[in-house]
Amino acid sequence: MIDIVVGLQWGDEGKGKITDYMSEEYDWVVRYQGGSNAGHTVYVDGKKYVTHSLPVGVLRPNIRSVITHGCVVNPEELVKEITELEEMGIDFTNRLFISKDATVITRNHLIQDEDNKKEWGSTGKGIGPAYRDKYDRKAIKLESVVSDRSYKKLVPFLTDTRELLYTAERNHEKILMEGAQAVMLDIDFGTYPYVTSSPCTANYAPQGTGLPLHMFGDSSITGVVKAYTTRIGTGPFPTEFSCPTFTEMLREAGGEYGATTGRPRRMGWLDMDQLRYACEVNGVTNLAITKLDVLSCLDEINIKDDALSDTLIKFPSWELTGNEKTWDDLPAELKNYVSFISFETGCIVSMVGVGQNRDQLICVE
Ligand code: GDP
Ligand code: IMO
Ligand code: MG
Repeated sequence: MIDIVVGLQWGDEGKGKITDYMSEEYDWVVRYQGGSNAGHTVYVDGKKYVTHSLPVGVLRPNIRSVITHGCVVNPEELVKEITELEEMGIDFTNRLFISKDATVITRNHLIQDEDNKKEWGSTGKGIGPAYRDKYDRKAIKLESVVSDRSYKKLVPFLTDTRELLYTAERNHEKILMEGAQAVMLDIDFGTYPYVTSSPCTANYAPQGTGLPLHMFGDSSITGVVKAYTTRIGTGPFPTEFSCPTFTEMLREAGGEYGATTGRPRRMGWLDMDQLRYACEVNGVTNLAITKLDVLSCLDEINIKDDALSDTLIKFPSWELTGNEKTWDDLPAELKNYVSFISFETGCIVSMVGVGQNRDQLICVE
């Protein structure tokens, strides 16, 4: 069984938290595209963990985590990421597998990405230059650099991840794919050229892992959407707030600063046209709506839905105590907002986020 978690906006929807929550039921968690431009945050017992190249599966001791050949890897940063998590008590022995064919991000790629960073706000992690060299057939594969003195730490993790996952699936093990970035940053389906350099929809999971399409026949595709919209870096954002004071207020309420670069995120209302597009492109089977608690600081919430009206659709806000555990505990106004999103996208909502902790996620009945 293979299931997929993907972002439906411009990244940072809470994919890390949703993947972490769902992963309890799986044997494997797999990153199949992107690199350390991702920043996936999970709070476990009040302790904050942020993963970049690693799947969030590393946070659960019984799960095996995989980085496939669809990813780009900066070996120096990956060694650092593993070492830091080891210092926080995570054991990687026999439970991390990295494709020997992953594309290497070199120091030159980092230098080349500096211009993109300055000009329009890439993360500066060398993602674009590394993928460019991959498609120009000039890339270096991870296997050929790990024997260097400083990267020796990665040697035990390197393997043929396609074969590993193929065998796991044939043995009826459960695999969860952790998407990074999101459809509006996708190289083909995003707001080009203000996008990242990898395909980041669910459709890339077969190619990025090397698993055949028929293994995805019954996959659930959980689309993660924030209850409002954020974006980092330059590029179109139709529902962006125009008022700086309001932007700042909601940014502070939601802690909307990049998990990788610390940059303030741009803020706006939920955009139903954008969300319907995201659901179509990804073939979303169910939605996880995060950060509904953040909107409780407002009096009124808006959604842009051109299909219904030229003007914004208004919703009353809600109050939360922080102790809500079940769907029945949630206020009617919040349920109404969630139902609207479900109806307008035609997708069931399976989970709603009401706080940043691992347990502040409520299954929808
Ligand atoms: P990702 O890149 O999609 O994994 O998302 P990020 O980790 O970059 O950003 C999402 C942020 O929202 C993180 O700081 C999460 O801890 C936080 N978060 C996720 N879900 C919720 C939620 O339901 N409520 C609140 N308040 N925070 C959440
Ligand atoms: P997660 O997985 C939000 C954005 C950058 C920039 C553009 C291109 O945490 O959701 P790149 O360095 O990839 O060439 O930058 O894409 N970007 C992200 N924004 N979340 C991410 O990942 C992102 N990864 C890249 O800010 O605008
Ligand atoms: Mg992020």
